[in-house]
Amino acid sequence: MIIAIDGPAASGKGTLARRLAAHFGLPHLDTGLLYRATALALIDAGRRLDDEAAAEAAARGLALTDFDESRLRGREMGEAASLVAVMPRVRAALVEAQRAFAARPDGAVLDGRDIGTVIAPQADVKIFVTASPETRAQRRALELARRGEPVDYAAILDDVRKRDARDAGRAVAPLLAAADAATLDTSALDIEGAFAAALAIVERARKP
Ligand code: CDP
Repeated sequence: MIIAIDGPAASGKGTLARRLAAHFGLPHLDTGLLYRATALALIDAGRRLDDEAAAEAAARGLALTDFDESRLRGREMGEAASLVAVMPRVRAALVEAQRAFAARPDGAVLDGRDIGTVIAPQADVKIFVTASPETRAQRRALELARRGEPVDYAAILDDVRKRDARDAGRAVAPLLAAADAATLDTSALDIEGAFAAALAIVERARKP
């Protein structure tokens, strides 16, 4: 079974994907980490984030494991990731590895922006996770505070809105719900509530 989870920044898709993967015993790939790691590789190499040739090379050089999540999860890297993610050559460089992950024998759970539309349009279950920008900014603020990062709610809300616009507005693989995706609005749900709702969507999709 392939489960595709897409949605905007801080919608809770990562947590849901992890929980669903654990529940069904499936491998999980957070595809946002690939874009974050590409951005980090550029920064570490002293290259500009809009250097498409260097970004493509960085993307091709990534290993899907061994991500240094402590460096990748910060606020700045999310912003940098969305800048490299607009470049068609970067996206093309990352497609094959993501498709190979989705093609694992027992299936997989992948979360990102274009899983149900581009990476795994054949997925058995597609969930588009959303929440209001204010809710998402609050969640991200909490997450960053837990990591010990300074938290400025207004700046985070601004980030969320800017990133939504950039991710939805880009020419290649924009953030978009697949026509056959179930939308799950988690604005009024806690993690348990969101997980129960996601599980219900999966069970419904699995029924013949
Ligand atoms: O956790 P959050 O949703 O803030 O970020 P993420 O999922 O790690 O993604 C960071 C950025 O990578 C996004 O803003 C997108 O621009 C890009 N991305 C993408 O273009 N396609 C994906 N499948 C996953 C992430």
